[in-house]
Amino acid sequence: MQNKIETAIIPFIIGDGIGNDIWKATQPVLEQTVQTAYAGQRTIEWMEVLAGEKAYRETGSYLPQKSIEVLKQHKVAIKGPLTTPVGGGYTSLNVALRKELDLYSCIRPVQWFPGLPSPLKNPADVNVVVFRENTEDLYAGIEFPSDSAGNQQLLDFLKKNQPQEYERLRYTEQVGLDIKPISKNATQRIMKAALQWTIAHQLHKITIVHKGNIMKYTEGAFRNWAYDVAEQEFGKLCFSKRTWQILMKEQGKEKAHEIKAQALAGGSIYVDDLIADNAFAKAIAHPADFEVIVTTNLNGDYLSDAFAALVGGIGISAGANINQEKGWGLFEANHGSAEDIANQDIANPSSLILSGAMMFDFMGWDKAARLVRHALEQTIQAGFVTADLHAQSPGSHPVSTSDFSKKIIEFIQ
Ligand code: NAI
Repeated sequence: MQNKIETAIIPFIIGDGIGNDIWKATQPVLEQTVQTAYAGQRTIEWMEVLAGEKAYRETGSYLPQKSIEVLKQHKVAIKGPLTTPVGGGYTSLNVALRKELDLYSCIRPVQWFPGLPSPLKNPADVNVVVFRENTEDLYAGIEFPSDSAGNQQLLDFLKKNQPQEYERLRYTEQVGLDIKPISKNATQRIMKAALQWTIAHQLHKITIVHKGNIMKYTEGAFRNWAYDVAEQEFGKLCFSKRTWQILMKEQGKEKAHEIKAQALAGGSIYVDDLIADNAFAKAIAHPADFEVIVTTNLNGDYLSDAFAALVGGIGISAGANINQEKGWGLFEANHGSAEDIANQDIANPSSLILSGAMMFDFMGWDKAARLVRHALEQTIQAGFVTADLHAQSPGSHPVSTSDFSKKIIEFIQ
């Protein structure tokens, strides 16, 4: 009897700017990967979903409701970058998608491999996964442009009901206002997701990054609620810096050190926290200190790009947006639509290809995930790189986006 063929229907969004260049390079790589890994027993059926400028041209909407419904129905999808206008225009489609699907975990692994350029002496020290909370913070989009009616109402409300807070405003005219929500629920579910990843990947350390010394009731609360999850829900598996600090006060330095050493020797995950500015400095000076980072939306956006810049840049940094509770995943390149190099066949498609590898991980297609990562690494090690990496890698051979894709396919075969 013949084995049943497993076909995954995967919606894809091409994206704006370089979206077309990198999708055209990624799609055949992912197809060849599946073909080689499963010899026809598993296949992909692609389904285009409209979003961004193409959607606007064809439907008059940048994010048609139908696209959101298809993404919800199929659960797993992959996308290219979508442009967001600065200082006005429509709000971010990326943020809208994450909100519509409640994709609360943005997961960005950053790792060096041989052949990637780096300004560091020891680039192999960079091996970190950033968990960025994806639904709150200043990205919630609760914005009041200066001189708008809503802005004036908010100022009037503060003046009347919170005069002390109103007094903190240096200027009360022509002042843009944003609201920064950070909730216990959102903090705890991203922390839980980060801890589960840490356990599943047999890692040993998770660092909560926040700016809680200044924004005490948002970023500071994030730190406290995140520690609560580690201590209360994962207590047997974790040892936190906060517990250690309490032990220091209550039982003295020696005993606190002893208990910590025992817990870590027994395999507990060490949960600590860092203020964001310190975390950025350490990312550059001591990247080996990090394994898993869990942080708020804005910090995570900056920090994951900063780590990526240490090991080849954003052209090679993959990302996943996941709702662990619903089992939804939207996999995407971390960079933007790079209009400056669009339609020139020079963009680096690695970020989207590696996002495809994360998608295979999520689907449980482990062999395909390993194969595509390995082929991409082999291609770069053999010196075939796109213009962005060539500029930083003396001795490499510059290739176009499409030729880079062909080289990876050769390695897969
Ligand atoms: P960008 O990431 O598009 O470009 C920054 C720089 O990196 C540019 O010099 C660009 O040429 C280069 N670059 C980016 N991706 C590259 C690749 N794959 N290969 C080679 N070089 C690459 O950032 P920018 O210019 O700030 O944003 C452009 C647009 O993209 C904006 O509208 C922004 O909102 C949007 N954006 C979308 C994202 C998404 O869809 N997830 C993420 C970030 C930005």
